[in-house]
Amino acid sequence: MRCLVTGGAGFIGSHAVQRLLRDGHEVLAIDDLSRGHAEAIDLLRQDAGGRLSFERVSIQDHDGLVNAAGAFAPQAVMHFAALAYVGESVQQPGRYYAVNVAGMLNLMHACADVEKFVFSSSCATYGQPPAELIPVPETCPQAPMSPYGRTKLIGEWMLRDCARAMELGGRPVGVAMLRYFNVAGADRSGLLGEDHEPETHLIPLAIDAALGRRDSLTIFGTDYPTTDGTCVRDYVHVEDLVDAHVAALDALKPGRVLAYNVGSGRGYSVREVIDTVGQVVGSVVPTVEGARREGDPPSLFADPSKIRRELGWKARAGDLREIVADAASWRTSHPGGYAQC
Ligand SMILES: NC(=O)c1ccc[n+]([C@@H]2O[C@H](COP(=O)([O-])OP(=O)(O)OC[C@H]3O[C@@H](n4cnc5c(N)ncnc54)[C@H](O)[C@@H]3O)[C@@H](O)[C@H]2O)c1
Repeated sequence: MRCLVTGGAGFIGSHAVQRLLRDGHEVLAIDDLSRGHAEAIDLLRQDAGGRLSFERVSIQDHDGLVNAAGAFAPQAVMHFAALAYVGESVQQPGRYYAVNVAGMLNLMHACADVEKFVFSSSCATYGQPPAELIPVPETCPQAPMSPYGRTKLIGEWMLRDCARAMELGGRPVGVAMLRYFNVAGADRSGLLGEDHEPETHLIPLAIDAALGRRDSLTIFGTDYPTTDGTCVRDYVHVEDLVDAHVAALDALKPGRVLAYNVGSGRGYSVREVIDTVGQVVGSVVPTVEGARREGDPPSLFADPSKIRRELGWKARAGDLREIVADAASWRTSHPGGYAQC
């Protein structure tokens, strides 16, 4: 299958490209490299046997996208390209709507002939679910609390509306919206990893603190109504997440609209993550206690039973230690990230 992957030089997108190539597909990766890494693409090309092409183009560039997609004629799209920092989205909402909403609309227009479209949505679309809806099922009302979360929810709406219009027009398309929880870990072969600038995710930050690459890790809030007072989140291994994409791609048929949570179904507190990182790296994570961050729900973890039931997907790395070990292994062997490999 010819698959177009946006954000293919980013953390999750590069792992998806790797998996698609392993499965024998032909891939066009698109990325503006604003937050992705050309090195990840170069590494992936080495074993791709000519099946990976790359275009440095922004999803905000409508004509560039039309040209790239027109020449490749994709049958499927996996759409990862986005701005993805909640805090930044509060400060620069216009940028988030421009990339995540208007950019996605450009992409949908440029790829109007595809058979299947898989979209990176987020648990941020749920906002702060009521306590009785934790673990969160897909039926939980979506009430995002940040511009970032709202852009992802609008993305879901756009896809649903366009899928319906295509069906009415006699050209049905299959679309899947995957609501990820916290994605972490790294490719088990050691080629790819997570390298964000700035880094905002807990596991890489804690690993860097344990390795002495940063002075300390700030714990935002220690007075939440959770077992140890810190926030509880659901961590999913990036390779498991990619498995979910492949399962969705396989399940998509013309006219099918799928929406799934992709998480392990288990919640870990910030302190549990810090302890696990300390054990894996073999040194204590230096921490400082800070105030709560606005909009951080106390506890957010998935009910992943729907994707298990319907697609047979389940996180293989159910244990946090495995996720942390893979992340730590890549970070330890790439002290400066991709640029230094
Ligand atoms: N990492 C997580 O825990 C998580 C959780 C929920 C949802 N998501 C979603 O998954 C997707 C991938 O996340 P990630 O962690 O890999 O982020 P990432 O920043 O590593 O990857 C995003 C990629 O998109 C590219 N990009 C940004 N703007 C672009 C534009 N205008 N045109 C073309 N490319 C552009 C960046 O250069 C980057 O390579 C995002 O859509 C994100 O919202 C991630």
